Amino acid sequence: MQITSFGVVGSGSMGNGIAQVAAQAGYDVTLFDISEVQLDKALATIQKSLAKLQEKGKLKEAPQEILGRLKKTIRLEDLKSCQFVVEAASENRDIKFKLFKDLDALLPQGAILATNTSSISVTEIASKTKRPELVAGMHFMNPVPLMTLVEGIRGLQTSDGCFKIVREVAETMGKVFVEAKDAPGFVVNRILIPMINESFFALAEGLASPKDIDTGLKLGCNFPMGPLELADFVGIDICLAVCEVLHRDLGDSKYRPAPLMRKYVEAGWLGRKTGKGVYVY
Ligand code: 3HC
Repeated sequence: MQITSFGVVGSGSMGNGIAQVAAQAGYDVTLFDISEVQLDKALATIQKSLAKLQEKGKLKEAPQEILGRLKKTIRLEDLKSCQFVVEAASENRDIKFKLFKDLDALLPQGAILATNTSSISVTEIASKTKRPELVAGMHFMNPVPLMTLVEGIRGLQTSDGCFKIVREVAETMGKVFVEAKDAPGFVVNRILIPMINESFFALAEGLASPKDIDTGLKLGCNFPMGPLELADFVGIDICLAVCEVLHRDLGDSKYRPAPLMRKYVEAGWLGRKTGKGVYVY
């Protein structure tokens, strides 16, 4: 199948990054969000990112040409001719289930629906549609324009043909595709989030200062960011949500969220996006 029209649902940090990289890859992209304000913010973020990539000589075309392939909308119906849609809405089961039901009713026959969920069952999301064989997981990493990985997740019902196209689209977007089973947290978050969680336990126990915890992992393991810095970058609320899914669905107490991480979320200290998390921005 030759895919030309590409839809993205949700224009937060993941959604706008996915829309940008899809437009860079030559797809005609429609970016949907319920909020016009959020869409404008998303477009400004994309413009800034493209300017930075151009400055570094990493674009094949001028930003204006890429932006010319990108439309924004607050009407879900505007995705009705898309052959490939990536959903990157809030990490909330009910929101995703409703979106998949609505998109299924709207999209043309044969269109593929991918979800950027970081932890919810792809199989269960697919079951909300009448085309579960055409639903798969496509887990991008933050910041999408810079991170080269896409974790592909096959739901129980995902067809070989659909999964092959998902891989091809990811590769067209310049990403390296790895295949993970549809299990809580897949591979990346199954390993990354417990490490971040453990760093909050270490902080609560006073093992070291936040800076020393981060420097320890940065210099000791050659990580680009320390785990607490990364929690602020990803969003502490997101880390907590994934941790809760791991704990609930795997049923193992080793995944219990650190009480300190929960407290930060209760305080609204979600990281960079709120100006304060473990660090102040
Ligand atoms: N688009 C274009 N350019 C960008 C950008 C973007 N979105 N974000 C940053 N840049 C640019 C910066 O402007 C900077 O440019 P400069 O060299 O001219 O100053 C350059 O990239 C490097 O950025 P920084 O100097 O700020 O910092 P780093 O060199 O540390 O690189 C990073 C930034 C790539 C984010 C790096 O710190 C990193 O790899 N961090 C780890 C990220 C990570 O682990 N992501 C995965 C999170 S988990 C996830 O997403 C899964 C989810 O389900 C939870």
